[in-house]
Amino acid sequence: MPHGTRDDQTGAPAPAAPEPAVAEGADSGVRLAAPVLGDGPDLWRLARLAGLALNSPYCYTLWTRDFAATSVIARDSGGQARGYIIGYVRPDAPDTYFLWQVGVDPAFRGRCLARRMIDHVGDRITQRGLTHLEATVTPDNAASRALFASFARSRGCEAVWSPLFGPEHFPAEAAEDDEHEDLVRIGPLGRAGT
Ligand SMILES: CC(C)(COP(=O)(O)OP(=O)(O)OC[C@H]1O[C@@H](n2cnc3c(N)ncnc32)[C@H](O)[C@@H]1OP(=O)(O)O)[C@@H](O)C(=O)NCCC(=O)NCCS
Repeated sequence: MPHGTRDDQTGAPAPAAPEPAVAEGADSGVRLAAPVLGDGPDLWRLARLAGLALNSPYCYTLWTRDFAATSVIARDSGGQARGYIIGYVRPDAPDTYFLWQVGVDPAFRGRCLARRMIDHVGDRITQRGLTHLEATVTPDNAASRALFASFARSRGCEAVWSPLFGPEHFPAEAAEDDEHEDLVRIGPLGRAGT
């Protein structure tokens, strides 16, 4: 499905120019691309492997159809899925991208793969005219907090943190212990390295 069609559905600004489908890292041999229909099972497996809150298989497959332009899958040289980001343009704030999940195979952590993926998304959304990236993170997730702080630094902007969701926003019988999700809002986004 062309990117323009998806943009129409989310209300986001149309992309200014066609983007490369694949970006290759200089060192790792891990290639980043927008997911395609058929990547849903690998996204689900990666979410489970990364220890993230696991959505239904249907959710990940739906994501590859409707939000591929705002998501990333990273595959190693053997084609094994090693990392992913899923996210969307907020319908009520079309200048803002919400990064829903980022996960990296534990065997591939600490190699800047998450940074590469978020940079890839950051480039795509700035090309589309978006100015902010948001995500929520639990207070104890040091790796995730460091990732967003690092991304903000690289774009020359601030990461502003505020409480968003608390235990009252989740079903008591399903919630983890005392679940809190802090919102991080990053922007206005510059190009990487600014
Ligand atoms: C968070 C996660 C995606 C980071 O992936 P990664 O590929 O190892 O991260 P990177 O190597 O790209 O590191 C990015 C930055 O975070 C820092 N970082 C990574 N892991 C860290 C840790 N455990 N503690 C502190 N800082 C950490 C790095 O030093 C780097 O910062 P820098 O650029 O200032 O040097 C990975 O740990 C993961 O999959 N965690 C489980 C899923 C999760 O919690 N996702 C976030 C919630 S949606």
